[in-house]
Amino acid sequence: MRSYATRTARPVDLPSREERAAALEAAGYNLFGVDADRVFVDLLTDSGTGTMSDAQWAALLRGDESYAGSTSFRRLREAVDEVMGFDRVVPAHQGRGAENVLYGAIVDEGDHVLNNTHFDTTRAHVAANGGEAVDCPVPAAGDPDAEAPFKGNFDVDAGRAYVDDVGAENVPVVVLTVTNNSAAGQPVSVANTREVAAFAEEIDATFVIDACRFAENARFVTERETEFDDATAAEVASEQLGYADAVVMSAKKDGLANTGGFVAIGEGHDDLFERAKQRAILYEGFPTYGGLAGRDMEAMAVGLREAVDDDYLAHRVGQVAELGAELAAAGLPVYEPVGGHAVYVDAGALLDHIPPSEFPGQALACELYLEGGVRTVELGSFAFPETDRPEYVRFAVPRRTYHREHFEHVGETAAAVADRTDDLTGFEVVDEPPMAELRHFSADLRPLDA
Ligand code: F0G
Repeated sequence: MRSYATRTARPVDLPSREERAAALEAAGYNLFGVDADRVFVDLLTDSGTGTMSDAQWAALLRGDESYAGSTSFRRLREAVDEVMGFDRVVPAHQGRGAENVLYGAIVDEGDHVLNNTHFDTTRAHVAANGGEAVDCPVPAAGDPDAEAPFKGNFDVDAGRAYVDDVGAENVPVVVLTVTNNSAAGQPVSVANTREVAAFAEEIDATFVIDACRFAENARFVTERETEFDDATAAEVASEQLGYADAVVMSAKKDGLANTGGFVAIGEGHDDLFERAKQRAILYEGFPTYGGLAGRDMEAMAVGLREAVDDDYLAHRVGQVAELGAELAAAGLPVYEPVGGHAVYVDAGALLDHIPPSEFPGQALACELYLEGGVRTVELGSFAFPETDRPEYVRFAVPRRTYHREHFEHVGETAAAVADRTDDLTGFEVVDEPPMAELRHFSADLRPLDA
């Protein structure tokens, strides 16, 4: 059994109820606007918010800050090769930087890109290059109660039907996002990965894996896919990623780092590798540092190896499951099974007296903050206007950062809110930025009873 001993302590105090109410009002009822020192348990995201290991901190001191050809880059490349099986690596400052490098090199005006489910930044990069982002999740992904081991899978039949419609020549890229963040962090099986790879080959498309949470995905495969009963997560990860032509990565997730990302490119794609390096020079930095300090690449190299350690993963996925159990016991409708990095709660089912136009997810997220200083994120009608997504609130767990007492506090907070759902009211947007798709980061809201 694995646990982690904390060697750097940061005091975190629960602000008083009055302070929380004032912070929420000052933030325009938008939790992105609340200062972190006003938050008691911060479950806004698992991205870059985790705790580095002592080995990672030690590695920082080896950072080689040479502009070209640094040894830190070489160590990163060796780690990517060892863990993922790709030795052609273009670093970037974070995942979306890597997306800009990759999708700018392979998506053109009028193209269609298929994905199990596009994450927001992926969708935006496809659109920014004139492409159309098309989601092909399996039907069970949209059912929070369906019992299935791999609800993150890609619906290859749906993909094929789409390609029949638009023509294979207009679909240059097929992406598989593991785990599927926008489908409640659900895993993707290796069997499905093989099918998607074969489908991409059939239509002559580049097969990309968005590997942000590849290690958590591998853990679920070892637990749920019979063929891999005796495999280690490291074995599953290299097999699963090995089917891809290219990998796009945010090291802020399963790189266990606070920043960083990269594109990794497989054999036989020399031209793509060259184009990616040229774009990296334009947008990120010379292709042996990609907008990162040498020390960041050192932390990534160590983190990638730690991320596929089975004991680490048992602890990691176990913590998320533990939070899921706390929230279910508190009476919240939890998406089942619980995913790899976060617990998703169906606020639409909990607050069925608040219509989607009045943002039930935002009402729940604000109330959780007010009640216990717990910060979550709404991923429903407020974050995604003009779509008919479920009204999810995501409780994302930073890696190696919180302990049982934090999850108990979140459970108690949730139970107190669940006891008085009838008192909760909806919200309206009073001020929003010009790009509606980005409004959840900065829009101001107002409670409808105020
Ligand atoms: N792809 C996926 C599947 C992601 O979840 C994210 C980020 C990115 C790409 C972009 O990476 O943040 O390093 O630029 N997800 C974070 C989240 C922000 O909270 O889910 P990035």
